[in-house]
Amino acid sequence: ATRKIAVIVGSLRKESFNRKVAKTLMLLAPSTLEMEIVEIGQLPLYNQDDDDNPPATYVEFREKIKQFDGVLFCTPEYNRSVPGVLKNAIDVGSRPYGQSAWTGKPCAIVSVSPGALAGFGANHHLRQSLVFLNMPAMQQPEAYLGNIAGQYHGDQLTNDSTRGFMQKFVDAFDTWVERHAD
Ligand code: FNR
Repeated sequence: ATRKIAVIVGSLRKESFNRKVAKTLMLLAPSTLEMEIVEIGQLPLYNQDDDDNPPATYVEFREKIKQFDGVLFCTPEYNRSVPGVLKNAIDVGSRPYGQSAWTGKPCAIVSVSPGALAGFGANHHLRQSLVFLNMPAMQQPEAYLGNIAGQYHGDQLTNDSTRGFMQKFVDAFDTWVERHAD
C-alpha cells in the first residue's frame, strides 16, 4: 500500500543541511512512501493557557499531522539536545491531552550535523519523547549523519557511500511503516 509520510525538519535555516538531507531522502524513497515536508516555523511557542482557544496554526498543524501514516524526523542537535523549534512542534501536536496527533504513527529519526558526533544527543533525546507519544521509532538502521558540510555541493549530495546508506535507511523505513501502520 502507499503510505503518507510527514517529514519534519528541525531547523528553520534557509540553507539547512537537515532540509537538504530530508529532500535527498524524499528523492530516494520507494514509490510506496508518499513524503511531504510539513513546516513547523509558523507555530508560536506553546502556551497551555491557549488550550481552549488555540491559534489557527495549531489546529491546522494537528489536523494535517493526523492525515499521515508515519513521520520522518530530520533533526539538528542544539546544545546536545533537540532544537526548541522541533520540541515546540512536538508539544503542539501532542495536545489537547488525550488527542495527540502523533499517537501510533511509526517514525524514524535522522540526526544531521557538520560535527563528528552527528547529533547523537538530539537523536536519543527525541527518542525519549517518541516513546511517550506512542510512536514506534525504527531502531535499525540508526541514522547519524555527521561531517555533513563536505558531503553536499549546494543541494546535491556528492558522497556515494552516504547516498547508499540513505537508500538503505529509507527502504528499511518503508518496511517499518508497513509493519506498524494501522
Ligand atoms: C549548534 N550546533 C551544534 N552541533 C552539534 O553537533 N551539536 C550541538 O550540540 C550543537 N549545538 C548548537 C547549538 C546552537 C544554538 C546552534 C545554532 C548550533 C551546530 C549545528 O549542528 C549546525 O548549526 C547545523 O548546521 C544545524 O543544522 P541545519 O540548520 O544545517 O539543519
